[in-house]
Amino acid sequence: MTTDAIVKRGERPRAAMVAFALLLLALVIAAVVAAPPARSQGGEAGRYTGVASCAGSTCHGRMEGDGIVVRQDELMKWQEPSSAGGAHSRAWAVLSNSRSQFIARNLGIGDPSKASMCLGCHSTAGASRGAVPVDDGVGCESCHGPAGGWISSHYAGVGTNADPDREMRDKHLSNLRAGLWKLEDPVVRAGVCVDCHFGSKGEGQFVTHRIMAAGHPRISFELDLFSSLQAHHHEDADYGWRKFGSGGARTDHVQMWAVGQAVALERSLDLFQSKRGTEGMFPEFFFLDCHSCHRRIFDQAKPLRTGVDNPGRAMAGGEKWPEGIPPYNDENLIMLSAAARLASPALAEQLAARTAAFHRAMTIDRPSAVAAAAKLAETVSALKGAFAARSFSGADAFALVDAISTPAINDRLTDYAGSQQAVMGVDTLLNSMVSSGRVTVGAAAGIRADIDRAYAAVKDPNAYKPTDFQAALGSAVRSIRALR
Ligand code: HEC
Ligand code: HEC
Ligand code: HEC
Ligand code: HEC
Repeated sequence: MTTDAIVKRGERPRAAMVAFALLLLALVIAAVVAAPPARSQGGEAGRYTGVASCAGSTCHGRMEGDGIVVRQDELMKWQEPSSAGGAHSRAWAVLSNSRSQFIARNLGIGDPSKASMCLGCHSTAGASRGAVPVDDGVGCESCHGPAGGWISSHYAGVGTNADPDREMRDKHLSNLRAGLWKLEDPVVRAGVCVDCHFGSKGEGQFVTHRIMAAGHPRISFELDLFSSLQAHHHEDADYGWRKFGSGGARTDHVQMWAVGQAVALERSLDLFQSKRGTEGMFPEFFFLDCHSCHRRIFDQAKPLRTGVDNPGRAMAGGEKWPEGIPPYNDENLIMLSAAARLASPALAEQLAARTAAFHRAMTIDRPSAVAAAAKLAETVSALKGAFAARSFSGADAFALVDAISTPAINDRLTDYAGSQQAVMGVDTLLNSMVSSGRVTVGAAAGIRADIDRAYAAVKDPNAYKPTDFQAALGSAVRSIRALR
C-alpha cells in the first residue's frame, strides 16, 4: 500500500473514531458481563481488523515516537519507504514488480498479486481469507495477532491506578488473555516469523524448490537479527515492567538467537515429514543442501572432486556420507549443535546421535528418514524448551563464539546456507555483548570489517568458497575472543 493511502485512511475524523471505540467498548463490556469468562470475546477473537484500524493519529499513527507507554509512531516505522523496517508494508506491492512477474510467468499462475501461492506470506489477507485489504501487505495483525478481541480495549484504563507499573503489567496480561500474541516470548515470536521466513503447512506459505527455480530468492532468516532490523519499539523501563514484570528486565538476545535456531529446525523437520516433503516422484529439494546439486560437473581422465568433506554429516555406524546423494540442509542444525552443549550436555549428545541416525536413514528410504526426523525433532523440541527456560549471560555469549570457532563446528561450514547462519550468529552474539555492556561500541566497530568480509563471502552462492569463508569468520572470531 502506498504511504499516502495509509495516512489518508489513518486520518479518520477523531470524534467519530472515539465514538466508535466507545461503542465497541460498551459492546465488549456488555459481552463480558453477559457471557461466561472463557467465551467473553465471542466471535470477535480471531477476527482481523486491518492496518487502518491501528492507524489513528491518537493510536499508532503519530508522526513522532513520543508516546508515553509505546512510541505510537509504529505505523510510520512499519511503512519506512527504503529500510528493512518497512519491508512488511511493501510485501504485497513487490508482487507486482518485474521479478514477481518473471516468477509468475515461469510458474504459469497468472497475476502474482492475486495468487494464493504468494499471498500467504506477502499479505495478511492470505491468512485472514481476504477479511482485510490485500494492499495492507504484511500488516500489524500478521505478527500481533488478529485484533477483533482486543482492538477496542487494549489501550483503555491505563493511568488510573496508584501503582502504574503493576497496572501496566496487569493491562498487558489482560491483553494477552484477549488474544494479543505474546511476541516478547522467543518461542511465540519465532513461531510467528518462521511461518513466512521459513514456511508452514498453511495455504500459500511455502517456497518450494520449484518457486525458487522460477526466480524466488532463497529465504534466509535469523530471529534476533531480523527482529532488530524490523523493530519499532523501545526497550525502556516500562517495557520491562509490562513484558517481564521488572523495570530492569530486557530481551535476552542470545536466548532469542538460540530459540530461533531450534524453532527453525523443528519447523524444517516437521514440514519434511508432512506432504510438503515430496514433490511428484521426488523429495522436495527445498530441504536439501543447495550446493550438493548445484555445482560444476567434471568428467575427465583425472577426476576432480568439487565437494568438501563435512565431518558433521557423519552417519550412525561411522560411515562417510555417500558421494552423489544430496544431504539435508543443515544450516540451523549446525548452529543448534554449537548452542546445545551450553543448555544441556545430555541433550547435546542426543542431538549428535539422532542427527547421525537421521543422516543414515536418509540413505535408506523415505519412511526410515521420516521416522528418524520425528526422533530428531523430539530432541530439538527439548532443546528449545531448555533454551527458553534459561537465561544467557555475557560469558555464555563468549562461550558460544568459542563453540562456533571449534573445528567441530567450523569444519561443518561447507555450504553457503550454513555459513550464512554462522556469520549472522556471530553478528548477533557480538551485538548482545555490546547491549549487555561486555564489549564497548568502539571495540565492536573495530570487528565490523571482519564480519562484513564474512558476509561478503556468502553473498554470491556461486562465488562461495568454504576456505575463504572460514578464514574471514575465523579472523572475526579471534578478534572477539581477544575482547574477553
Ligand atoms: C513462505 C513464504 C513466502 C511465499 C509463499 C512467497 N514468498 Fe516471496 N518472499 C518471502 C520472504 C520472507 C521474502 C524476503 C526474503 C529475504 O529478504 O530474506 C520474499 C521475497 C520476495 C521477492 C523479492 C523482494 C523484492 O524486494 O524484490 C519477490 C519478488 C517475491 N518474494 C515474490 C514472490 C512471489 C511471486 C510468490 C508466489 C509465487 C512468493 N514470493 C511467495 C516469503 C514468501
Ligand atoms: C513483522 C512482525 C510485526 C509487524 C508486521 C508489526 N509488528 Fe509491532 N512488534 C513486533 C515485535 C516483534 C515487537 C516487539 C515485541 C513486543 O511486542 O514487545 C513489536 C512491538 C510493537 C509495539 C510495542 C509493544 C510494547 O508493548 O511496547 C507496538 C505498539 C507495535 N508493535 C505496534 C504495531 C503496529 C501498530 C503495527 C502495524 C502498523 C505493527 N506493530 C506491525 C512485530 C511486528
Ligand atoms: C505474513 C508473513 C510474514 C510474517 C509473519 C513475518 N514476515 Fe518478515 N517478511 C515477509 C515478507 C514477504 C518479506 C519481504 C517483503 C519485501 O521484500 O518487501 C519480509 C521481510 C522482512 C524483513 C526485511 C528483510 C530484508 O532483507 O530487507 C525483516 C527484517 C523481517 N521480515 C523480519 C520479520 C520478523 C522478525 C518477523 C517475526 C516477528 C517477521 N518478519 C514476520 C513476510 C512475513
Ligand atoms: C537434488 C538436487 C537439487 C537440490 C538439492 C537443489 N536443486 Fe536447485 N535445481 C535442481 C535441478 C535438477 C534444477 C533444474 C530443473 C530444471 O531443469 O528446470 C534446479 C534448478 C534451480 C534453479 C533455477 C536455475 C536455472 O538456471 O534455471 C534455482 C534458482 C535453484 N535450483 C535453486 C536451488 C536452491 C536455492 C537450492 C537449495 C535450497 C536448490 N536449488 C537445491 C536440483 C537441485
